[in-house]
Amino acid sequence: MSIARHHHVQRANHSWPTSPAQNTAALYNKAGTDYIAYADGNPEKLFAFEGLHGYADRQIWLVLLSKLIELRASRAASLVLLDAGCGPGTWLRRIILCAHDLGFERIVARGFDIAESQVAQARLLASDAAALPGVHLTFEVADLTRPLPEMDGSVDITLCLYSVLSHIPPEGIPQVLREIARVTYGHFVTAVRSVGSTPSAFTHSVESIRYLRQDHERNVCEIELHDGTRSMFPFHLFTESELRGLFAPHFGIEEVRGLDLFHTRFANDPRWSPPGLQGDDSLANELAQLEAIYAAKSGFVDRAAHIMLVAQGPACRDVGGRQASTAI
Ligand SMILES: C[S@@+](CC[C@H](N)C(=O)[O-])C[C@H]1O[C@@H](n2cnc3c(N)ncnc32)[C@H](O)[C@@H]1O
Repeated sequence: MSIARHHHVQRANHSWPTSPAQNTAALYNKAGTDYIAYADGNPEKLFAFEGLHGYADRQIWLVLLSKLIELRASRAASLVLLDAGCGPGTWLRRIILCAHDLGFERIVARGFDIAESQVAQARLLASDAAALPGVHLTFEVADLTRPLPEMDGSVDITLCLYSVLSHIPPEGIPQVLREIARVTYGHFVTAVRSVGSTPSAFTHSVESIRYLRQDHERNVCEIELHDGTRSMFPFHLFTESELRGLFAPHFGIEEVRGLDLFHTRFANDPRWSPPGLQGDDSLANELAQLEAIYAAKSGFVDRAAHIMLVAQGPACRDVGGRQASTAI
């Protein structure tokens, strides 16, 4: 019997050993510092955007940077950020360091995650951002399916990046979005896995997997790494139209875009390709052009590695509304 078949039979009738969300927490807790190495590369080179996820990261960063610049141009000097499912805190670090350089004088930021080890990482790594004058940064262990402590319309930018929403059982998503919409005054930026994305090992490179099965009926993923680590957790792959349908009751949708249609496909696999196949700058430029052309084309968005959605809260419909209170 093949390994895959053996596992399939063993797991056909599984039940959750703890709660589904605790299984997700266990996945990211077990990964510990491996997750940041896999997802973000060197945590000291925050704006290098190198490696396999560099292209998608850079696109998300350009969106966030434009929001910061717009806010600052509107004479806002204070900024409130919320990162739901913050992992090791890389995105809040990026935003705070940049916002400080842009001249924001008071920055209040909260990141939370269901995995304790990711929160511990975030606290450790973000000491640079937390030490800046005017910055109040906290990281907490919390579950996104629970009510948020933030007040109505109190957050300028809310993040939920890279598969956090994919880990929420689909029946729970409307309530999560309602709650995020309640607290978000400015923008909400999210990225989720698409139905046509290539497989992921979530916390390690895909070569680490020896068994993988995504159950689309129950929205559960099972993986086993070569080191024998097994995990089973809630996971859902989204289509563009499904995502639009979920967001439309709660937000204005500013943009939906596929991230990384071609970059992963063009990445060298050292197990297969000769070292000399590395691309040059002109190939990189053409790939970026291709991504830009197809990023929003129907039929392609659902096959990107991630679908990014930028949503608007009331501030975008009510320009100037709260600016009086945020301007110093
Ligand atoms: C792929 S990681 C992304 C981390 C981070 N947003 C980033 O982009 O670097 C997904 C994160 O979602 C967190 N997560 C999953 N379900 C969650 C929940 N119900 N509440 C809070 N965090 C959750 C996981 O623990 C994990 O850290």
